[in-house]
Amino acid sequence: MKTFNVYQFNADPRLPTPLRQTLLETFEVCNEVLASFYVEVSNEVLAFARSRGLKNIVELGAGHAPLTRLLVDNPESHGLNFVICDLIPAVEQYQELELKYPGRVTALTESVDFSTTRAWPPSTLLVLCAAIHHVPTQKRPALVHALSLSADSVMVFAPVRKTWLSVLLAMAIIFPAIALPILLWKKPGRLRRVLWCWLVPVIPLIALWDGFGGSLRQWNEREWREVLAREAGEQREPFLKHWGNRQLVAW
Ligand SMILES: C[S@@+](CC[C@H](N)C(=O)[O-])C[C@H]1O[C@@H](n2cnc3c(N)ncnc32)[C@H](O)[C@@H]1O
Repeated sequence: MKTFNVYQFNADPRLPTPLRQTLLETFEVCNEVLASFYVEVSNEVLAFARSRGLKNIVELGAGHAPLTRLLVDNPESHGLNFVICDLIPAVEQYQELELKYPGRVTALTESVDFSTTRAWPPSTLLVLCAAIHHVPTQKRPALVHALSLSADSVMVFAPVRKTWLSVLLAMAIIFPAIALPILLWKKPGRLRRVLWCWLVPVIPLIALWDGFGGSLRQWNEREWREVLAREAGEQREPFLKHWGNRQLVAW
C-alpha cells in the first residue's frame, strides 16, 4: 500500500484535481502576484543558461508552468528551447504553451518523476522551482545524484529557507489562501475556490502546513555543500546564493 507523504499533497494522485488546482493557484498568487519570485527565478535561469551556453531548459515539477510561461515570453530567451513536465502534468496548460510557441516549447504529457535518472539531451539545464521540499530529506541525496547524471546543469530554487523568520513568513500564506477567491475572482474556477477556500477551508490549512514544513525541510548551505560534494561529481562547481527568504542552488 502506498503511504501518504504529508509533504507531498500536490504530487499525490489521490488528491482530487480541483483541490490540487486550487493549491497550485495559491502558490502562484504568492510567487507571482504578491511577490516577484518567478520573475527573479526566470532572470537567474536566463543569465545562467547564457553564461554556460546551454540550449535547452527543462522545467521539472512544473505544476501549471508559470515559470516556463515567463521564460518563453521573455525576449532574452530567444534561441532557447523549453520542456515542461511534472509527476502530474497539467496537460491543458502545457499544450496551450506548446501551441503558442511551436518548436520552442515541448509539453510532456506523460508523468515525469524528477527523482529518477533520465538522459536529457546535451546542453540541457534542469530547473526545479519550489518543488524539492516534497522529496523526503533522506531520499534527497539520491535525487541530487539522479539529477547530476541526467543533464549538464541543474538549478534548484526555493521561495523559503530553513530559518525561523522564513518559517513565520511562509506560514503567512494562510492569508492569501483565504483571500484566493477574491484575488482570482475574474478567473474561471470561482466556485471551486469558494468551496475549497471558504465553505470547506481545506486549502488554507494545507497551504499553512506546506509553508511550515516546506521551510523546515529546506537544507542550509552547509547541508547542500556536503550533499553536492558526495553526489554531484567532482567536475561540478556548485553555486549557492540566497536573497531574502529565497534560495538558489546550481551545479
Ligand atoms: C509547489 S508545486 C510548484 C510548481 C511549480 N514549479 C511552481 O513553481 O509553480 C510542486 C510541484 O512539484 C511536483 N512534484 C513533486 N514531486 C515530484 C516528483 N518526484 N517528480 C516530478 N514532479 C514532482 C508536484 O506535482 C507539483 O506540481
